Amino acid sequence: MVDSLCILVLLLSALTGRAQPPPSFKCASKTTCRAMVGYSPATPTTLGAIQSLFQVKNLRTLLGVNNLPLSTPPTSPVPANRTVRVPIPCRCSNGTGLSNRLPIYTVAKDDSLSKIASLYFSGLVTYHQIQAVNGIKDANLIKVGQKLWVPLPCSCDYVDAQPVVHYAHVVAPATSLDAIAAQFGTTTTNTLMTLNGITDPKKLMAGQVLDVPLKACSSSISNNSVDARMVVANGTYGFTANNCVMCKCDSANNFTLQCQPSGLKPVDWPTCPATQCPNNLSLGNYTLSSTCSRSTCAYAGYRNQTILTTLIDDNTCSESAMAPSSDEGSKMNGRWSLALALLFSQMLLIVPEIDVMCPLILRLVLN
Ligand SMILES: *[C@@H]1O[C@H](CO)[C@@H](O)[C@H](O)[C@H]1NC(C)=O
Ligand SMILES: *[C@@H]1O[C@H](CO)[C@@H](O)[C@H](O)[C@H]1NC(C)=O
Ligand SMILES: *[C@@H]1O[C@H](CO)[C@@H](O)[C@H](O)[C@H]1NC(C)=O
Ligand SMILES: *[C@@H]1O[C@H](CO)[C@@H](O)[C@H](O)[C@H]1NC(C)=O
Ligand SMILES: *[C@@H]1O[C@H](CO)[C@@H](O)[C@H](O)[C@H]1NC(C)=O
Ligand SMILES: *[C@@H]1O[C@H](CO)[C@@H](O)[C@H](O)[C@H]1NC(C)=O
Ligand SMILES: *[C@@H]1O[C@H](CO)[C@@H](O)[C@H](O)[C@H]1NC(C)=O
Ligand SMILES: *[C@@H]1O[C@H](CO)[C@@H](O)[C@H](O)[C@H]1NC(C)=O
Repeated sequence: MVDSLCILVLLLSALTGRAQPPPSFKCASKTTCRAMVGYSPATPTTLGAIQSLFQVKNLRTLLGVNNLPLSTPPTSPVPANRTVRVPIPCRCSNGTGLSNRLPIYTVAKDDSLSKIASLYFSGLVTYHQIQAVNGIKDANLIKVGQKLWVPLPCSCDYVDAQPVVHYAHVVAPATSLDAIAAQFGTTTTNTLMTLNGITDPKKLMAGQVLDVPLKACSSSISNNSVDARMVVANGTYGFTANNCVMCKCDSANNFTLQCQPSGLKPVDWPTCPATQCPNNLSLGNYTLSSTCSRSTCAYAGYRNQTILTTLIDDNTCSESAMAPSSDEGSKMNGRWSLALALLFSQMLLIVPEIDVMCPLILRLVLN
């Protein structure tokens, strides 16, 4: 099954050379949100250069979506073809989502629209799309210094009634929808087909841009908080409440958002306001009120100069793997060890999105 898919994909993409559809993601919700694209530089580059190409305001946002340590410098090298997740602001209108007036690319000497689309932005956009949104009549007539909006595909829609982070994934040669669904762990082949309007998985083409929904954590953020629509994807961390709060999402806590004071200097506020629950428990800490019951001080959003918190109770006995090992009954520090988590993630430095199955199978077949 997989091998026949691989070969078909290869045949379709390599032999017939059929043009793939231009990247365009459905977005029914009239809103803005944060989305992500999978960018693979054609030549070796650095995180800082990627940050400036996509005009990501803070390096820590780029580090957070790649789960890299906060101490990672902008000079960190990124090899060619390594996929880096880049956060983009998404705006949905007329049923389609596009990066909200960003990034802006300034035309340099010897640039062409197709070079910008396929080389500089790794095929996340077509040159027709850049041409269309910038109202360029003749694609051969672009001037050095001209500023072009590069409209990247994105979406803000819920998937299966769950908030997700939409990720634009460029299909590698010799892969299958099943393999892509497995790679992202979060989604099924059927979801990918529905979301991308694919009726025949065998028609998947290398270079096609897929809308992949990444699982996001559930949170206690109040719907009238400024950051009510914040979604944090599995395996990422981010900052909110004017930088005062850092939140991360992973499977370790049943995909419940884990937040704690960031220790960073706030933007817009002179100091970070208190982050305590009414019982004086600090944000991210928990108490064990009985053997099985845990009360965690969770982040609930922010307003004016106030950080909102709420106590959430959960039953630790039903999730034995998450139960604390000792010190039962006492107040405990429930803060996750950032240093450790980040140190560990550094070893994974931007996991290349390589599908190992197909080349392997093909080699076997060819032998
Ligand atoms: C990157 O990938 C492209 C296409 O898959 C390939 O042609 C190119 O040689 C690769 N570059 C490097 C440096 O691996
Ligand atoms: C909205 O989309 C429809 C078809 O999808 C298109 O015909 C129409 O021109 C679009 N309107 C705007 C304002 O882009
Ligand atoms: C969550 O992310 C981890 C890696 O960070 C991955 O192994 C796992 O499959 C993901 N789970 C879901 C449900 O997305
Ligand atoms: C906010 O959430 C409450 C319940 O949690 C709901 O009753 C209310 O309608 C929501 N408000 C908005 C603006 O969505
Ligand atoms: C919280 O702390 C304040 C001052 O530190 C104290 O007055 C108050 O009684 C404490 N409240 C609880 C519920 O412990
Ligand atoms: C927050 O600010 C708004 C105006 O920006 C004001 O109307 C409201 O009363 C303030 N709320 C609190 C709790 O201070
Ligand atoms: C995990 O979360 C889901 C939904 O948020 C809930 O239904 C389930 O009971 C939770 N599982 C555990 C072990 O807490
Ligand atoms: C709660 O968290 C704070 C940091 O936010 C930490 O300094 C403190 O020791 C923790 N308190 C308890 C009782 O674990």
